[in-house]
Amino acid sequence: MKERIEKALNDQIKKEASSSQFYLAMASWAETKGLNGTAKFLYQHSDEERFHMLKLVKFVNERGGNALIPALEKPPVNYETLENIFESLLEHEMEVTESINNLVDICLQEKDYTTHNFVQWYVSEQLEEEALARTILDKLRMIGSDKGGLYLFDRDLENSAISPDPAAQ
Ligand code: FEO
Repeated sequence: MKERIEKALNDQIKKEASSSQFYLAMASWAETKGLNGTAKFLYQHSDEERFHMLKLVKFVNERGGNALIPALEKPPVNYETLENIFESLLEHEMEVTESINNLVDICLQEKDYTTHNFVQWYVSEQLEEEALARTILDKLRMIGSDKGGLYLFDRDLENSAISPDPAAQ
């Protein structure tokens, strides 16, 4: 594996690991606020990001590279509102998408078509994750500060089939 590709993949490993940690912090905050549906959704999302990271780790090692397990920064502890959480989540996912697109570019420049093929899975995944975050944000903006609406939103997320399921991928 070319050095430039290995570095780009290792950078992506760090991004996925940070996403997992970030969503874990959000999940924990939601749980302490009694928002059990939101917490469940975010815990699952955190697991999904860990799965994204693991998939990269295994790919790098299987292709003769060395996957680097990174140190992570502490994510925020407090969040103001649910809208605030999902805005941060969408913003974060958009950064991840940019990073995946950059990885695709590097694969093409280096003519590494195997890695390019592998990365396509992440391209589709980002499309879905951004769409999901936007749908949730739209709902929250519609609800505003209506407590009854927020209660129903949280209950919907708890029963929702939209929750990410890493084992199914
Ligand atoms: Fe793995 Fe949500 O990016």
